[in-house]
Amino acid sequence: MVIEDVHHRPLLDLRISVTDRCNMRCRYCMPREHFDKHHEFLPREDILRFEEIVCVVQAMLPHGLRKVRLTGGEPLLRRDLHELIRQLRVCSSDLDIAITTNGLLLKKQLKKLHEAGLSRVTISLDALDEQTYQSMGDTNATPSTVLEAIDAVQRLGLPIKVNTVVKKGVNEDQILPMVKYFGQRDVSVRFIEFMDVGSTNDWNLDHVLPAEVIRSMLTDEYGTLEAKRPDHASDVAKVYTTSEGWKIGFIESITNPFCGDCSRARLSANGSIYTCLFTNKGHDVRGILRMDGSPADITQAIQSIWMNRKDRYSEERSNQTTKIKVEMSYIGG
Ligand code: GTP
Ligand code: 5AD
Ligand code: SF4
Ligand code: SF4
Repeated sequence: MVIEDVHHRPLLDLRISVTDRCNMRCRYCMPREHFDKHHEFLPREDILRFEEIVCVVQAMLPHGLRKVRLTGGEPLLRRDLHELIRQLRVCSSDLDIAITTNGLLLKKQLKKLHEAGLSRVTISLDALDEQTYQSMGDTNATPSTVLEAIDAVQRLGLPIKVNTVVKKGVNEDQILPMVKYFGQRDVSVRFIEFMDVGSTNDWNLDHVLPAEVIRSMLTDEYGTLEAKRPDHASDVAKVYTTSEGWKIGFIESITNPFCGDCSRARLSANGSIYTCLFTNKGHDVRGILRMDGSPADITQAIQSIWMNRKDRYSEERSNQTTKIKVEMSYIGG
């Protein structure tokens, strides 16, 4: 039975944060001055075990769940992540199991992840230029490591996308080089408007480069872009193609919000369900899991959480900007 929320949106997509830690400190996500040695990351005992995550997924599958995305923080910091993928694959042979990673640890783990049943990979990469990459990610790592991982994913034949958060005046000069580099390699790139998620990234509308401006840069360079029909109503990206057939996506959470078809729930690493990226209130399911709740108890809790859901934050953004919000590294990108 498909369950719908108050606005008749089904639950199709679960984003699972497997850790709140990361080996980068992107300025727009985990600024180092907030995520330093004084920051209290989740204690190990609070973090859901793989079996517990699987219980939550199992409870959602009969309600139409078709996609899970493993995220974080950086999901590849979680030991033996391939084992979670294996267990999820056992639950369903046709579940879409995706991962969003910064790619730094991917090359080494890729074979195991693939063998375990991973369906596809999304890599976060904000620049090809080393200096821009290092300053945006506040890291000593280099983009070449990520590019090598992307090559390795392609050699395995796994579908891949690249996500690029654009900050005005910071990496906008990377847009054209990235479109060309990835276009030539048949990798679809998605440009994401810098969002006001969390409370630490010093978000300001002046730092947002509207997707429309990026499209006009691309039109000047490549001629008219053709809008592609979305595969699913709940897709976050609007995809366009150039005359060469290069696919470019835009995630316009600021200038063109997409709450109307939002079918995404999020499971934090410590076992709370969040029904919106911008909420500050989660619904604890770890308590039910650890008090030996039956699968029926978990199913019932999830039904009630989803059926009461009203969130449309991005569409209502203007009157809510002062609220304390949960961090994306905790709730899952
Ligand atoms: P596929 O379409 O299945 O490939 O995945 P996806 O686009 O849902 O997932 P991905 O992790 O690649 O999402 C890309 C980015 O879109 C995220 O990192 C967020 O920045 C943004 N995003 C994803 N979901 C939401 C959402 O529900 N609300 C908002 N405002 N932004 C979102
Ligand atoms: N705005 C937009 N996207 C963000 N992400 C994290 N913080 C932000 C933000 N403030 C997304 C990026 C990254 C993923 C892990 O989280 O897309 O690729
Ligand atoms: Fe880490 Fe991704 Fe956040 Fe960057 S955006 S700090 S790589 S979780
Ligand atoms: Fe969904 Fe909330 Fe994002 Fe809107 S702001 S698309 S409701 S997660």
